Amino acid sequence: MSQPKRYLVTSALPYANGLKHIGHLAGAYIPADIYVRYLRSQKRDVVFVCGSDEHGTAIPIQAMKEGTTAQAIIDKYHQAMKEDFADLNISFDVYHRTSDPLHHETSREFFTYLHDRGELETKETEQFFDEGSQTFLADRFIKGTCPKCKSDRAFGDQCETCGSALSPDELINPVSTISGQAPVKKKTTHWYLPLAKHEEFLRSWILDQHKDDWRPSVVGQCKSWIDGGLQSRAVTRDLNWGVQVPLKDAEGKVLYVWFDAPIGYISATKQWALDNNKDWEPYWKDADTQLVHFIGKDNIVFHCIIFPVMLKLHGNILPANVPANEFLNLEGDKMSTSRNWKLEMRDFITDFVKKENGGDQCVDMLRYYLTQIAPESKDSEFTWKGFQDAVNSELVSIFGNYVNRTFVLMHKLCHGKVPKFHADVADDLDAQLVNDIQAAKARIEQSLENYKFREALFDVIDLSRKGNKYMQDKQPWIVAKTLAEKPEDQKLIDNCMHHCLQLMANLAIMINPFLPSTARKMCYMMKVVDRMLDWENAGSIKLLSMGYSMREPQLLFRKIEDEEIAAQVEKLKAGAALAQQAEVVAAEPAAPQNDLKAEIVFDDFGKIDLRTGIILSAQKVPKADKLLQLEVDLGFEKRTILSGIAMHFQPEEVVGKQVVVVANLAPRKMRGIDSNGMILMAEDANGKLHFVQPENAIAGGLKVS
Ligand code: 2FM
Ligand code: ZN
Repeated sequence: MSQPKRYLVTSALPYANGLKHIGHLAGAYIPADIYVRYLRSQKRDVVFVCGSDEHGTAIPIQAMKEGTTAQAIIDKYHQAMKEDFADLNISFDVYHRTSDPLHHETSREFFTYLHDRGELETKETEQFFDEGSQTFLADRFIKGTCPKCKSDRAFGDQCETCGSALSPDELINPVSTISGQAPVKKKTTHWYLPLAKHEEFLRSWILDQHKDDWRPSVVGQCKSWIDGGLQSRAVTRDLNWGVQVPLKDAEGKVLYVWFDAPIGYISATKQWALDNNKDWEPYWKDADTQLVHFIGKDNIVFHCIIFPVMLKLHGNILPANVPANEFLNLEGDKMSTSRNWKLEMRDFITDFVKKENGGDQCVDMLRYYLTQIAPESKDSEFTWKGFQDAVNSELVSIFGNYVNRTFVLMHKLCHGKVPKFHADVADDLDAQLVNDIQAAKARIEQSLENYKFREALFDVIDLSRKGNKYMQDKQPWIVAKTLAEKPEDQKLIDNCMHHCLQLMANLAIMINPFLPSTARKMCYMMKVVDRMLDWENAGSIKLLSMGYSMREPQLLFRKIEDEEIAAQVEKLKAGAALAQQAEVVAAEPAAPQNDLKAEIVFDDFGKIDLRTGIILSAQKVPKADKLLQLEVDLGFEKRTILSGIAMHFQPEEVVGKQVVVVANLAPRKMRGIDSNGMILMAEDANGKLHFVQPENAIAGGLKVS
C-alpha cells in the first residue's frame, strides 16, 4: 500500500472535570505522542490534535461537588490538564477546548448537515425526571445499581465498577444524583442516529476490511456491538450545559456530549489551521490522509461505530486505525477516582519532575515505564517497585550505562574524538554490530507503523544491550594496557570505539520518539544538531565523522531510591484510607454536638453583616501551617481574608468556591497581613471542615440573614 500523504492523529479529549491519572496517560497520550514523534522524524506531514472535553453532565456534577460554576470547573481543569501534558512533553500541535465558539459552530453545522439530509430520527419517549430540580436525568445525573455486576456505582451511561455501557432504564433503584430523590417519568422529544441503517457498512468496513490490521480486542468489541443489534442512539439531551441544538423549538436541548466531543477533533484541526495559516480540509476530507484515534478501551464504540457513521454521513474520511488500549491497574487494584486509588499526572510531576534531582530525566523515566508496561493487548499494572526496576535495571544499567561507558572510554582511549575505522583489522563482531543496528531499525519501524510500542521500545533497549556486549567482547580497556608493546593494537581500540560511537548516535535516533529529552541530551553531549535525529539517519554507521570531538558525558538517568518508592506506596495507601473514611462519614454522619453557646437576642445577630462571596485566589502563608491567604470577591469589592483552613484544603481546591463571609469583622493583622473578614465553615464531629455555601451559583455581596 502506498504511503499516506498526510496524517491526522488524535488523542481522546479528556473530560475537564478533574486531573487525569497515569492510566489515561498510558492509554491515549504517550502512545500517540510516540507515534507522532516517529512520523515527524520521518518528515511526514502530521497534525496531532487534542483538547478538553467540556460538556456533558460530568461538568455540572463536578461544579456541584466543588460548590462552584460549570464554567469555573472547565476553566480550572482545562488549564491544569494542558499544563500537565506540556510538563510530560506530550507534543500536541493544538490543545483545543469544546467550549470554544469555533467548536460550537462546527458541531452545530455537523448536526444541521445530518438533520437536513434526513439522517436523524426524532422520537418522543418517557425519561427520568427530577421534580425538585425540574431536570431530566440522563447520563451522570442518574445513578443506581448495575444490572450486570450489582455494584451501586452505576450511572445512566456507564457502570463505574464493571465498565458496562448502560441506559438509565436499565438501572436498578434509580435515584437522581442532583437531589438523591427517586425520579418520575416525563415525556420528551430527542433526535437519534439510526445506527441499524448502517449495519452493512459497519460489518464490511470493520469486520472485513480491518479484521487483520486493527487490534483483535477492538475488532472483537465492535463485533459484539454489531452482533448484539445496533440501536438508535440519542444525539441530544435536555440540559442547560453544552452545544445548543441548532433548531427552532429545541430550547433547553443540547447536543449529547458524545455527539459533539469527537467533532472536537475537527474543530481542533481548524484551530491549528487558523493558527498556522494552513488548510484543515484535506486532513478530514482527502482519502490520502491517514486518520488515527488513540483511545482507551471504554471509548471504542464511540470511535469505531458511532463517530465513523457520523463521518461517513458528513462526507469525511474514516479512521485508518483506532489503537485502543486496555486499562492500567495500580499496585494490584483498579485505578479509581472515587476510592482515591490513583496516581495523578500532576502528583508525579510534583513529586519527581519538579524536584531538585528531577527534571526531564524523570519525565522520560515515566514515559519509559508506561510504554514498557503499556496495556496494548490486556490490562497491565503499574507498581512503584516495577517503576524502580525499569529505571534502575534497564534505563540506568543498560541504556544509560552503554552511553556513559562509550563516552568515558572515547575520552580515555581516543582523546575525546571519534576515531578512524581501520578496515584492515575489521572482524566479524564489527560486522555483526552493523547488522544488529540495521535489523533493529527495520524491526522498530515495523512495530511503530503497526502501533506496537512495547515491542519497538524493547528493541531499542535490546540494541543498547548488544552494544554493551560488543564492548565487553572487545574489551578495549584491556587492549590499552599492552599498547606499549603492541602499538598497532590502537587500531583495534579505534575500531571498537568508532562502532560504539556510531551505535550511540543510532540509539539517540531510535530512542527519540519514546524519550525525546534523552535523545536531545545525547545530541548535546555528541555536539550534533537535533537534525541528526531524523529517522532516515538510523541504520547508518557514518553518523559521526572521524576526528569529531565531543563533550564530557553527563549521566542520562539517576537511580530511583528505595525510600522514594516506599514513600509513594505509603502516600497511595494514606490517600485511599482518607477517601474511605470520608465515605464512611458521608454514609453515617457523626452526631452533631449539643453544646450550644449562651442565648443571644435578635439585635446581637443583627450586628453581623454576612455576605456571599467567591474565592478568586488562594495561597499558603509562609511560616503559618494553618493559614491560607484568600482573595474574595464580594461583588462591590475584593477582600484579602486569612482563613485557618490550610490543613484541610490545598489552595487550588478552594479557588472558585462560593462562600459566606462575615463582612464587617474588624480587620486583624496576622503574619504581617491584614485579614478583612471571616469565611464561615462547618466542622463535623471528625474535625473535617466544610464550606458553608449558597445552594446555587449566585453573585457575590448578597446579604445573608
Ligand atoms: O472518556 C472520556 O474521557 C471522553 N471525554 C473522551 C472523549 S474522546 C473524543 F471523542 F472526544
Ligand atoms: Zn457494573
